[in-house]
Amino acid sequence: MVSFTGLSGFKWTVANGFRTNPGQTCPPVDNSHISNILLFTTNSLLVPRKLLAVRKFFIAGNWKMNLLRDSSVALVHQLMDQLHSSGNVDVAVCPPSVYLHDVGAALRGSVIHLGAQNVYHAAEGAFTGEISCAMLRDLGCKYVILGHSERRAIFGETDADVNTKLQAVLKAGLTPIVCIGETLAQREAGSTQTVVRGQCTHSLAGLTSDQMAKTVLAYEPVWAIGTGKTATPAQAEEVHADIRELLKGLFDASVANSVVIQYGGSVKADNANELLSQPNIDGALVGGASLKSESFLPIVQAAMKIKK
Ligand code: 13P
Repeated sequence: MVSFTGLSGFKWTVANGFRTNPGQTCPPVDNSHISNILLFTTNSLLVPRKLLAVRKFFIAGNWKMNLLRDSSVALVHQLMDQLHSSGNVDVAVCPPSVYLHDVGAALRGSVIHLGAQNVYHAAEGAFTGEISCAMLRDLGCKYVILGHSERRAIFGETDADVNTKLQAVLKAGLTPIVCIGETLAQREAGSTQTVVRGQCTHSLAGLTSDQMAKTVLAYEPVWAIGTGKTATPAQAEEVHADIRELLKGLFDASVANSVVIQYGGSVKADNANELLSQPNIDGALVGGASLKSESFLPIVQAAMKIKK
């Protein structure tokens, strides 16, 4: 961490990558550095958005209940053969829990991280059929998807359940991916903003700023999941920007600016570039297109090419 006095005498604190001595000007930065830089100001100050963009792209594949062991490992090998470096993009795959071990072993040494699709909040005990955070860590997981709309709709998970799981996941040092999104009926009734804000507020209740900054959100309009109907980039951006606005109120501007918000819902190679180019879309949670390397890798590559 270094501090220095910059524009108009405001004091800046900068982590990772900047080195300034008294009287020295900042070195020029390119976009690939920007997402690794945490930048805070001690006074409110208008700075170019570029300098506030502290977020790294994050592309994750949610395999849902698909593939068997051999096809899971084969897919990972195909991904690894073609993805030697992911540049400025975090990449993860989330296989079914029974294959986390095999997929994790196959991924070892690669740039692709491992994630789970669900977890139970209790540390251990008589919870037949459930899996704990410690077990996921033991298997090498970095991420856990929480509150996916399929879990909400089919298995009755509520915002309160998501919140309980979220607390456990953060305590265990895993990175949660919290899903929110409205149904078609809710969108048509004009209640998208109310629904998404409500899900965020209740699912994220009680988090410290530090915990919020470590939490990934995934906006997945239910009507766009597995339907081939993608939200338009403008529709998605509108909700992402509103979530960030909400986070500003619930936490503060620097937390709001640092939270990675993925979009999910029929993301494909041919719509990824336009979606990911939106200022508040920081990645994708990919379902169907993550089941084949030829449809997943172009999405990762699209993110790698975008300079925000
Ligand atoms: P699809 O990409 O198949 O629409 O699924 C999105 C999703 O639910 C990811 O979690």
